[in-house]
Amino acid sequence: MPSTIFRAPRRAVVLFSGALAASLLAACGGSSLAEDDAPGSAAPEDAGPVKIGLSVPLSGVYAPLGEDMQQGFELYLEEHDNQLGGYDVDLVSVDEGEGPQAGVPATQKLVTQDQVSAVVGIVNSATAAGLRDTFIQAEVPFIVANAGADEITAEPSDYIWRTSFVNSTVGGSIGAAVAEEVGDGSVYLITADYAAGHEQVGGFREAFEAAGGKVAGESFTPFGTTSDWQPYLSEIRSSGAAAAFSFYAGAEAVNFVKQYDTFGLSDSVKLYGTGFLTEGAVLEAQGGAAVGTKTALHYSHTIESDRNAEFVEAYEAAYGEVPTVYSVQAYDAAAALDLALEDAESTDGAGIAAALGGIGEIDSPRGPWSFDESHNPDQPYYLREVQEVDGGLVNVAVRELG
Ligand code: BEZ
Repeated sequence: MPSTIFRAPRRAVVLFSGALAASLLAACGGSSLAEDDAPGSAAPEDAGPVKIGLSVPLSGVYAPLGEDMQQGFELYLEEHDNQLGGYDVDLVSVDEGEGPQAGVPATQKLVTQDQVSAVVGIVNSATAAGLRDTFIQAEVPFIVANAGADEITAEPSDYIWRTSFVNSTVGGSIGAAVAEEVGDGSVYLITADYAAGHEQVGGFREAFEAAGGKVAGESFTPFGTTSDWQPYLSEIRSSGAAAAFSFYAGAEAVNFVKQYDTFGLSDSVKLYGTGFLTEGAVLEAQGGAAVGTKTALHYSHTIESDRNAEFVEAYEAAYGEVPTVYSVQAYDAAAALDLALEDAESTDGAGIAAALGGIGEIDSPRGPWSFDESHNPDQPYYLREVQEVDGGLVNVAVRELG
């Protein structure tokens, strides 16, 4: 990361608008981002297109995240004349849906029926875990652009790469900071009851307790079906906790944060979480209920760097809203494929997989990063706080977490 200085955003309001890129991109005349790292000349002149699969949720509680990912991936393609590594891209998109029941078969179809050379996407940890073996067996690279399931990269494979984060790492990144802020007080853990919740809150708990923190209790709420958090909020109140820590994203994050506030806990029990709790479109829906919530994440559109400023400007011009961590993770997946295809000896899965290991640093809006030995991004995390800025709500990056 070049710098940990953050600027106040030019547009403070996070919009729900999801208008797709084409016309707006045309209006902004493309982007200068492509100039420094134009697609390579590796592709022979008569090379056919490379078929890439994109699987993100367009329905279910994580649909807003999927929309951001699609926008991030499409923005990269638009900036690079719809080419990766000099090859024209034939993009095949499917709906990941809410969980593995929908997401696994839809994504497998990209491999078995559409015969793509690589797949990008997947929000849900359980879905990603259910797909891992499919990609290894088919020898098709799987570039996970959100799902943080620890097990996905626990045993590295040439065919499994991730441009997002590892659940236990993002949770653990804020453990010591919360222990310091709550002092002698205890923290209640509350999360969605599936892999991402268990691992993110588990990672938090380990780091928090190692730093001397005390846990007051914990609740796991049914994923995708919980609409009333009141029984859990009563437990938080009666536990006497000084703070709560949670993982929720998408529609669940909206409902949880709003009910937490309406129940009257915001003033007395400080709310912390991983950054998905207040990221993107959910923040506008949460409104004032989210103010003061502190989270950890590897991106904020307020990061001050030339690279991020260019990206935010291009994204806003294309979609009329600021980018999110989901947009950046998918944008970086396109960048990784671009670099790999520049050097790949063939455009099939084996050729791309072999080249991914040698791409080096990605010049990302989050800051430059490389894949580590487990094929996850080697990156810093930031403490962010929801603040009102210029009449809108912003996840202001306060400092880098140690
Ligand atoms: C996950 O399932 O890994 C996940 C879903 C939404 C946001 C972050 C992680």
